[in-house]
Order: sequence, then C-alpha cells, then structure tokens
Amino acid sequence: MSKTSPSILVRDLPVRIFHWSLVAAVMVAALTGFFGEENLLWLHVWAGYAVAALVVFRLLWWILGGRYSRLSAYPLSPRKVMAHIRGLLAGRSPHTPGHNPAGAWMILILMSLLAALTISGLLTLGGEEDLGPLRAYVSYRTGDAMGEVHEMLAWLLVVAIGGHLAGVFLETKIFGHPLLRAMTRGDMPLPSREHAPGWRAEEGPLALRGLLVLALALGLLAAGYGALSAKPDARWRQVQYIAPYEKNCGDCHHAHHPSLRSKAQWRRIMDGLEDHFGEDASVSRKDAAQILAFLQANDAFSFDTEAANRLGRAQGGDLRISSTPWWKMRHGGLPQSLFASPKVGSKANCNACHMDAASGRFDDAAITIPQTGKPPASAVRKGEHS
Ligand code: HEC
Ligand code: HEC
Repeated sequence: MSKTSPSILVRDLPVRIFHWSLVAAVMVAALTGFFGEENLLWLHVWAGYAVAALVVFRLLWWILGGRYSRLSAYPLSPRKVMAHIRGLLAGRSPHTPGHNPAGAWMILILMSLLAALTISGLLTLGGEEDLGPLRAYVSYRTGDAMGEVHEMLAWLLVVAIGGHLAGVFLETKIFGHPLLRAMTRGDMPLPSREHAPGWRAEEGPLALRGLLVLALALGLLAAGYGALSAKPDARWRQVQYIAPYEKNCGDCHHAHHPSLRSKAQWRRIMDGLEDHFGEDASVSRKDAAQILAFLQANDAFSFDTEAANRLGRAQGGDLRISSTPWWKMRHGGLPQSLFASPKVGSKANCNACHMDAASGRFDDAAITIPQTGKPPASAVRKGEHS
C-alpha cells in the first residue's frame, strides 16, 4: 500500500460539482422563494431550472456514474437500515466506503423532494403566472393550489436539509468519517478488504463522462421544454383595442384591460356613465354600443390569467377593480401617497406601475414602482392625470 494513496475514490468529480452546484442553486431558490420580492421571480425560476437540470443529471449519474455514485451501490435494504440504526443506538457507525444506509435514504428523500419541488414549481408558474413550459396545460386555479403544495414541499426540504446536516455532523464529529473531505477531495480512507487503486487516475475519465451526461441531461430538458411549449396557450391572447374605447375611456385614467371586469360589471359601468365615480363620462350612443361589445367580448371569463380570476371575476357591489379584497390585499403594502403622486394619480392608473397593464397579463417582472418625490397635496384631484 503506497503512502500517498491509502484511500479510494468515493465521490467522483461530477458528483462533487453536482453537490456544491445544487447547494448554490437551492440557496438562491430558497432565498428568493421565502424572502424575494415579486420582481425577483425570474431569479427564483432560473434557480429552479438549475435544480431541475442538476436533478436530471444526478438521475442519469445514478446509472452511468462512478462506482459509488450509482444507485446500485446504495445500501437501501430494510435489513441494512435496521442494522445501521441498531449500531447507531449502540454508539457504532461502521465505516462504509460509499454511503451508509441512513445517508443513502437521506439522498433519496432529498432527491424526491427536489424533483417534486421543480414539478410543483413549474405547475405553479404555468397556472398562476401563465409562464413557463406548462402554461398551456394548467388552469389558474390548479396553479394556485400547486403554489400551496410547492410551499409545503419547500418547508419539508428545509427540514430534510436539517436532517442531512445533522447526519453529516454526527458521522464526521462523533464517528470520525471524513465526509466533508470526501465531498471536496473525493476520497475516503481505505477499508481493509478493498484494493488500493490509484484513485486519482479514475477522476479524468469519469469527469469526461460527467460532461457527456450533463450534455445529455440538458438536451433532454431542452427537448422536453420545447415539446411542451409548442402547445398554443389558449388562456391569454392579445387584445386589439378599438378606437372609441381608447378615446373615451383612456383619458381620465388609462384604458383598463377588458379582462378586469365581468360582462355584467361592464354593463353596469357603461349604464352609469353619467355619474361615473363622481364624474360625467358619458359617450355617444354609437360609441357606447361599440365599447360595451368590445369589453364584453374580452371580459374576465374569456381569460384565465391571475388578474382575470382574482379581479375580473370577483363579485362585489362596488364596480371598482381596486375595491376587490384581493386587489387591496396585494396593494396594501403601498403607501396611499404613492397613488396620489403626480406620476400615478389614482389607483385606476394600473399602467403607472404595471408596464404590461394594456396586455392584461400583470406579470411580476413588469412591475416598476415610479420614483416619486413628496407628492403635493393638490395632486389628489380625481380624474386629472396624464
Ligand atoms: C371624466 C373622467 C373619466 C372618464 C372619461 C372615464 N372615467 Fe372611469 N373613472 C374615473 C374616475 C374618477 C374613477 C375613479 C378612480 C378612483 O377611484 O381612483 C374611474 C374609475 C373607473 C374604473 C375603476 C378603476 C379602479 O380603480 O378600479 C373603471 C373600470 C372605469 N373607470 C371604466 C371607465 C370606462 C369604461 C370609461 C369609458 C366609457 C371611463 N371609465 C371613462 C373617471 C373617468
Ligand atoms: C402604485 C403602483 C401600482 C398601481 C397603480 C397598481 N399596482 Fe398592481 N401591483 C403593484 C405592486 C408593487 C404589486 C406587487 C405586490 C406584491 O408584492 O404582492 C402589484 C401586484 C398586482 C397584481 C398581482 C401580480 C402578480 O402576478 O402577483 C395584479 C394582478 C395587479 N397588481 C393588478 C393591478 C390593477 C388591475 C391595477 C389598477 C386597477 C393595479 N394593479 C394598480 C403596484 C401597483
């Protein structure tokens, strides 16, 4: 046995890079998911895509990876698990070159949670935001429910990571198995019955194979993404605004997207233009008929976006979009002075903050709060804003 290689390769380079990349991606996803503002959704989604790519890579590496990276090398049988637990209770954790049974099961739990998180994340992104490869397949309501599942899974992952760290701590500090060294350098001290190959020589070919498997994983994901995205998305469409609507209803406030109210609400609004929230907004008979037809043809029930579901389909006595409880809840954190400031003017000017208000999408990424100085008190006059 040579002095320089008294150990064997247990975590090949691809697995080490996988592991630490996963730590980084999960940290970004968790920080943006738990604490991020709405407009950081893109970063959360990209971290999620990175996690998905890493998980697919690792699934393939379970079959194609180095000796101890393969699923077939995991001691998963209940008998081995029981023996391991009995050992732990007796204060023993025998040296195993790959994973011990508890560690192997921990990996399966973590991998399952990560896979479930990326899938529920894609369903949420598709349903709730009408974005990503699944947007054409999931309704808003399903996406909303998936959001709850996604959050619950995220908490479970936090618990599982805690268990993982506790296990590593126990193994390294109490039983003296150098797991951290294995996950950085790759090797572990040699168990007596193993041969002593020059473990470093195995690294090169495995690293090359790792690159090929990574390319395979990315190719599979890209192909899946492309195939799923090909389905046309019937939940949202571009609305062609008509001139009478823009002319008559885009003056005091911006011309609202028709999906923000239901057919019945639009009729009530159009029937009451003489006393329109304290203003006279009446229009010619001809224009009124055209406007109502346009609004009703594109009303909340002909879209399946978040805005159409949460705002347009909301029932209530007040005809204002901004009076719905959900609108108030989502905008509750914004100061009243912001709405009154010259750059916004009124809650009715959705487009002051939502750059895509005219499309009816209200994407998180399109929210920009205008920078305002201290608003003069006189700016609070209704119906007078640019
Ligand atoms: C003379 C000015 C004026 C015109 C013209 C006008 N509106 Fe309004 N509109 C208002 C005011 C004022 C409000 C209340 C804004 C607020 O509460 O901050 C309002 C509010 C609304 C709202 C609710 C917005 C919210 O905050 O939820 C809708 C929907 C709406 N108007 C539709 C229309 C339509 C449709 C037309 C065209 C037929 C129209 N408006 C024309 C002044 C006008
Ligand atoms: C002064 C700026 C401002 C105005 C005006 C405004 N919003 Fe918003 N809106 C925001 C901000 C900021 C958020 C994100 C709130 C959060 O973090 O939950 C938001 C969130 C939303 C969302 C949820 C977006 C998502 O995907 O989570 C919708 C839908 C929405 N607003 C619709 C409207 C409509 C309709 C109007 C006009 C009647 C309007 N907003 C007016 C600032 C504004």
